[in-house]
Amino acid sequence: MAYTLPNLPYAANALEPSIDAMTMEIHHGRHHKAYVDNLNKALEGEASLANLSIEQLLRDISKVPEKIRQAVINNGGGHANHTMFWEIMGPGGGKPSGPLADDINKTFGDFAAFQGQIKQAGLGRFGSGWSWLVLAGGKLQVVSSANQDSPYMTGQVPILGVDVWEHAYYLKYQNKRADYLDAWWNVVNWDAVAKRYSEAKAGK
Ligand SMILES: [Fe+2]
Repeated sequence: MAYTLPNLPYAANALEPSIDAMTMEIHHGRHHKAYVDNLNKALEGEASLANLSIEQLLRDISKVPEKIRQAVINNGGGHANHTMFWEIMGPGGGKPSGPLADDINKTFGDFAAFQGQIKQAGLGRFGSGWSWLVLAGGKLQVVSSANQDSPYMTGQVPILGVDVWEHAYYLKYQNKRADYLDAWWNVVNWDAVAKRYSEAKAGK
């Protein structure tokens, strides 16, 4: 079964003014679509791989034949990363609560310190990539990755991630990645992040 582009869970203009509708339309309808299309193209004739969940495909990246591995890393990673990105955003904003908030405070000191680490990881990523909150070895950690490299490939579970490719922010913020990263907190759906965290801890 081929991988498919998920619908956005809200209207393209739902995240305005933090993220403008045109950026959302191009990001989802063209960039994410291209990752899905190119992943399916790379996996043509590889029925056993194309039937895996995208997370499993990336966890077992070493089992992907070498001749298509980089295409799967780029496009499969792009598909998984963006699917999570749409899911953990929404018109909400606010702050985490419950066990996620407790563990963020325990791990990073407080919420502001955690936000600072995510920002620094995003600003410190030269070129294109992502800044992540992951569950690694049972612990929360902030990391960044290059290009579309997925945390699943190194055994980490992405809980929250912010896209720092220019395609995520250039129309509205031009080169001001820091301003985009500051505004991004206004559109985080903490219920969705908390759900990912409890599922990750449960090993789902
Ligand atoms: Fe992106």
